[in-house]
Amino acid sequence: MIIAIDGPAGAGKSTVARAVAEAMGATYLDSGAMYRVVALLSMRDGAPGPAAVAGATTIGLGEAVTANGEDVTTAIRAPEVTARASEVAALPEVRAELVEKQRGLLNDGGDWVAEGRDIGTVVAPQAELKIFLTASEEERARRRAHELGLDAADVRGAQAERDRRDATRDYSPLVAAADAVRVDTTDLELPEVVDRIVGLARKAVAR
Ligand code: DC
Repeated sequence: MIIAIDGPAGAGKSTVARAVAEAMGATYLDSGAMYRVVALLSMRDGAPGPAAVAGATTIGLGEAVTANGEDVTTAIRAPEVTARASEVAALPEVRAELVEKQRGLLNDGGDWVAEGRDIGTVVAPQAELKIFLTASEEERARRRAHELGLDAADVRGAQAERDRRDATRDYSPLVAAADAVRVDTTDLELPEVVDRIVGLARKAVAR
């Protein structure tokens, strides 16, 4: 089965998606890491444009994130890469390349928990369960700041800008699928969120 978990930055998607995958014995797909890899490689001196990078790069998503065999797990989390990722994610040619790679993985027939912005709407509209994970803007900034060791007020400004760009881009903006279940994590602890999604997944399988 495929469980799609979409939503804005800082809603807890990565933590939740990893934990749900673990609980379900499924494989976790971090689609955002792919946009980050394209951003990182296209920022390097002499690199071709992001679309060419997206087409020419073999991206490995496992314990480590790799780009043509190079370990970029840490490098793709740098703040300048984070900012650039949201810009390259607005390019239709980049999205087309990465969506194809993601579909290639998800269509192998195994069980997946795929996390991103457009998994339930574009990448895998056939997903048996679609979750749209949200949290208040303040809480999302607080979590992100805690994770990165930064000031919440600084994070909030950059986050608001990214949210705006992700939600208003012409091509494939961040929207909840019509059949997605909305889960607001502002006042929930991680185990409660995971239990809720695992419960929904079991029901979806039983249908
Ligand atoms: O989830 P993340 O912060 O690692 O995502 C990095 C960027 O990529 C973010 O700006 C949103 C974008 N993204 C996207 O547009 N579609 C996806 N499926 C995943 C991420």
